[in-house]
Amino acid sequence: MRVIIKDNPIEISHEAADIIVKQINNYHGSVLGFATGASPVETYKRIIERYEKGEVSLKYITTFNLDEYVGLSRENVNSYFYFMKDNLFGKTDVDFNRVNFLSGEATDLEAECKRYYDRIRECGGIDIQLLGIGTNGHIGFNEPGDKFADGPFAVKLTQSTIDSNKKYFEAVGDTMPEYALTMGIGDIMRARKIILIATGESKAKAVKELVEGQVSPSCPATILQMHADVTIFLDKAAASLLGEKK
Ligand code: GLP
Repeated sequence: MRVIIKDNPIEISHEAADIIVKQINNYHGSVLGFATGASPVETYKRIIERYEKGEVSLKYITTFNLDEYVGLSRENVNSYFYFMKDNLFGKTDVDFNRVNFLSGEATDLEAECKRYYDRIRECGGIDIQLLGIGTNGHIGFNEPGDKFADGPFAVKLTQSTIDSNKKYFEAVGDTMPEYALTMGIGDIMRARKIILIATGESKAKAVKELVEGQVSPSCPATILQMHADVTIFLDKAAASLLGEKK
């Protein structure tokens, strides 16, 4: 696990975007796993800037996103599909035929999860998976629990996750869904390279556990210690508890 501490989120975004752009320019048909939330937004901006300068084309990449809320359509402003369209896909030449998402509107959630699992395999697996981390140590929507999930599954969100994310729904007069579909830990761990971005003091405890804690499903992100190619980008606030005794 490589831990890289930067002064601020902008510096992180340049480095993270650089890794992704290099991957795409090495192989235009790369398979990229994307994340939502505030953490990757600056990185997406850097990728867009580089696309606008003609330094990279996203036309032939295939994408998989980590998760989606159950019950939300792609047109809902709080769906993760909408987020990706707004923050990256719609501002580049991404081919929407190659964009893969768990469908929040699926009637048979189990079948939808199986479809996604199979689709990742059919596409040859994920070259780079980008991640954020929840304040409780979740990745994707793999909430703390007593086992690591392998493939995609439907999850009941914890109160901590609802408390962190409900502001986006309240802003438009909606209530946050209690359920989501997410890639499993197995899907994330099978990615050939993983980049995790965490910034701000609110992430410091989860980051300490991720880097220094015992591998345990009670903090799902700790599993990343077992992956051969993980880069963790932190700002100083997120890294502030590293090295301190508990
Ligand atoms: C959500 C998403 C995660 C994300 C996490 C952190 O729960 N499902 O994929 O990493 O929140 O979000 P943020 O980056 O906004 O702090």
